[in-house]
Amino acid sequence: MRVNFTVNGRPQEADDVWEGESLLYVLRERLGLPGSKNACEQGECGSCTVRLDGVPVCSCLVAAGQAEGREVVTVEGLAEYARERAGGTPAQDSGLAPIQQAFLDAGAVQCGFCTPGLLVAADEMLERNPTPSDADIREALSGNLCRCTGYEKIMDAVRLAAARQSEGV
Ligand code: FES
Ligand code: FES
Repeated sequence: MRVNFTVNGRPQEADDVWEGESLLYVLRERLGLPGSKNACEQGECGSCTVRLDGVPVCSCLVAAGQAEGREVVTVEGLAEYARERAGGTPAQDSGLAPIQQAFLDAGAVQCGFCTPGLLVAADEMLERNPTPSDADIREALSGNLCRCTGYEKIMDAVRLAAARQSEGV
C-alpha cells in the first residue's frame, strides 16, 4: 500500500508498505530519518517516540497505515517545530530546539540512545505545561527509559528548559 502523510512539515509518500509495517520502520528505513531509535520494538522504552497529530506515540506500535493523512514530527523536525511555535524566531543560536540545548547544557546525554524519544516527549510536555512540577516531568517521561543517566540530569535538563522558556530565553 501507499502511505501519504506529512513528516516534519513536508509531504511524504511511502510506497509498497506492507500491512504490518510500523511507522518507525517507514521513518527510519524508507524516509531516511534515523533519529527515532529502535530499542525494544514493543512499546516499552520510548526511544521511538514521535508526535502524531501532536500526540506523543511509540512509533514502533503505530502501523504505518494509521499515519495516512496525518502529521508526524520526529526529533529531526523538533527545532523547526519549536521555531514555528516561537513565531518563527530562532530560539537558540545553535539552531537546536530549546529542549535540545538544555539537554546538552545539563549533561543529560550519555550514550544518546534514549535521547530522541525523551526530547520529543519533554518538548510536548513543555508545550502543554510550561511550568511543570517535578512530578509532572516524571509522569510525562515515565514511558521513556534511560539506562545511563539515572534520570537526574534529564530532570535538570527539563527544569532548565522550562525556566528558560518562562524567562523567554
Ligand atoms: S522501540 Fe518503540 S517503545 Fe521501544
Ligand atoms: S543516555 Fe544512554 S540510554 Fe539514556
